[in-house]
Amino acid sequence: MKQTKDLLRELKVLAVPFPEFDTQDLPEYPSALFMEWMKIAIEEGVYEPHSMTLSTIDETGAPDARILILKDVTRNKWYFATSSTSRKGEQLKSNSQVALTFYWSAIGRQVRIRGVASKMTAEASSTDFLERSNGARAIALMGNQSKELTHRDDIDEALVKSEELIKQFPDPVSPVWTMYEVEANEVEFWQGDSERKHTRVQYQRKGDRWEHRLLWP
Ligand SMILES: Cc1cc2nc3c(=O)[nH]c(=O)nc-3n(C[C@H](O)[C@H](O)[C@H](O)COP(=O)(O)O)c2cc1C
Repeated sequence: MKQTKDLLRELKVLAVPFPEFDTQDLPEYPSALFMEWMKIAIEEGVYEPHSMTLSTIDETGAPDARILILKDVTRNKWYFATSSTSRKGEQLKSNSQVALTFYWSAIGRQVRIRGVASKMTAEASSTDFLERSNGARAIALMGNQSKELTHRDDIDEALVKSEELIKQFPDPVSPVWTMYEVEANEVEFWQGDSERKHTRVQYQRKGDRWEHRLLWP
């Protein structure tokens, strides 16, 4: 039987030809380049290109990470939504420093964003909540994200209660569903190359302006 390390070593990585990344004439804001890359990822059929890893830090200083859906991008901000009482929600209360990471394997691109997360208004959170599908709203209304689930059947019971609530009162909003904005201070664009001559462009925020430079692969 194959050794684990051999099984992994034989897997291909960055093996296909990727799009060009012209580092001349880069946009002033990394969010503009991010959206150019996002549109290419969508056109190239990248699966769930709006999913990203959110990394947080717990109260002991240990890192934690999980995948979330990107909700929006504006000039200096990236947005996500989650429960403010989940594990990540609690971590964000004690440390608002975060990292967001995207990897679009079909085009060999990675984007890394570092910044500070803050809660948005109750109105922004409820708007996002009400835009979710009925099923997603019913699940979020159960609350308890990241709490211990003693019996799997408890989900079905909680779901019945959420669905009844939705029937009785149109548009109930979860009190803990929260939109967060991440104000970025560093964004790195990484274009993979099959010969490992990867191209890296790092933007750093200097007050209201952004500066960018190339990094060694
Ligand atoms: C593709 C994908 C998308 C997800 N999107 C979200 C999301 O937008 N919001 C969310 O709270 N959890 C989302 N999750 C679930 C999270 O990864 C995570 O399990 C959950 O938020 C609990 O994390 P926590 O215990 O660190 O708080 C998603 C998971 C996957 C795989």
